[in-house]
Amino acid sequence: VDADRLERTRAVFGDPNDFPSSPLYRRLADYVATDDDLLALAAQGRPGQYPSILLFGAVHLLLLHHYPDDPLAAFYPTVAGASAHLPDHRAGPALRAFCLAHQDEILAITRTRLVQTSQVQRAIAIRIALAAIADEVIGPLQFIEVGCSVGLNLRFDRYGYRLGGVSFGDRDSPVQVDAELVGSEPAPDLDRLPVIADIRGVDLNPLDPLDRDVREWLTALVWPENADQRQLLERALGVAADTPRVVVRGDAIEALPALAAILPPSSARFVFHSATRMHVPHERRAAFDAAVLSLGDSGPLWWASVEGAAKTDPRPAGGRPGAALRLRRPDGGRSILAIVEPHLRWVELLSTR
Ligand SMILES: C[S@@+](CC[C@H](N)C(=O)[O-])C[C@H]1O[C@@H](n2cnc3c(N)ncnc32)[C@H](O)[C@@H]1O
Repeated sequence: VDADRLERTRAVFGDPNDFPSSPLYRRLADYVATDDDLLALAAQGRPGQYPSILLFGAVHLLLLHHYPDDPLAAFYPTVAGASAHLPDHRAGPALRAFCLAHQDEILAITRTRLVQTSQVQRAIAIRIALAAIADEVIGPLQFIEVGCSVGLNLRFDRYGYRLGGVSFGDRDSPVQVDAELVGSEPAPDLDRLPVIADIRGVDLNPLDPLDRDVREWLTALVWPENADQRQLLERALGVAADTPRVVVRGDAIEALPALAAILPPSSARFVFHSATRMHVPHERRAAFDAAVLSLGDSGPLWWASVEGAAKTDPRPAGGRPGAALRLRRPDGGRSILAIVEPHLRWVELLSTR
């Protein structure tokens, strides 16, 4: 691994804003950032794949299914249950020992798998963006999600939602997404959506919700403390298995222009992606953006995304750190609709007045 890549990997593990809901992963990430052997291991994943999420997912998968008695597993509530140790100074060295002992097995995972974490909770970002444009869209909307993984966000119309204590969507759905509302803006009406014509997904590697191997990998990608997300994932996989949706296999850079060519001319279209562009290698991101914009070649395009912090935080100082829910309208105007916890556990809507 060259020195550049090692340092980029160190910067990722050293980011203090990562893993906000996992004290264990924050502790382990701090440790990895100081350990060149572990950084070199983590740096060998597939290009663009976020190395900390990929390494920790691989380790978690091995602990869950092959090494539940390893000393490292004692820190994982998913393996050790309620008696799991709180992360302390022993966790980092235990990770190091595990990684050095099982290096080949880890590489077999990180060199072949993608970070395909599917956060059902992010569907609420889709509802917020659709509600924000409901008055602007004329005619039925073509919905496209880029990086849909196993397609849980593609079933955004099948879930119930609570935002700031107000209920929306399907109250009888087995999947109920609940997000805290932060700040002074009231919850928008998440049931006021444009009429949707078609819902389609695009992914490098679309996953089958019925495949056991897929379910195990997606479960391993959920951070160990997040039992609520694991439960939501399991339920949403059930909904996905029962709700067919069209998914195109391919790199967005080629797949989106091809999709643009088959959309009904002049039809309104909405594209969404979350935690997808961050896994596109840096040198391909301009091409990724151009491919998304090509969807607007033959009709008005609304483009919403959740991909990381805003360059300049639009809020007064002191807000919770979070990602920006961005919107680009057909006239090219860009705005930030909300600052959100990266997994959409909380939402701070920004004033549009
Ligand atoms: C971390 S997952 C996020 C899944 C989902 N969007 C969510 O927010 O829960 C990223 C997904 O993007 C896909 N992906 C990454 N690069 C891509 C590309 N260039 N074109 C299409 N899909 C891509 C991956 O295969 C993966 O399924």
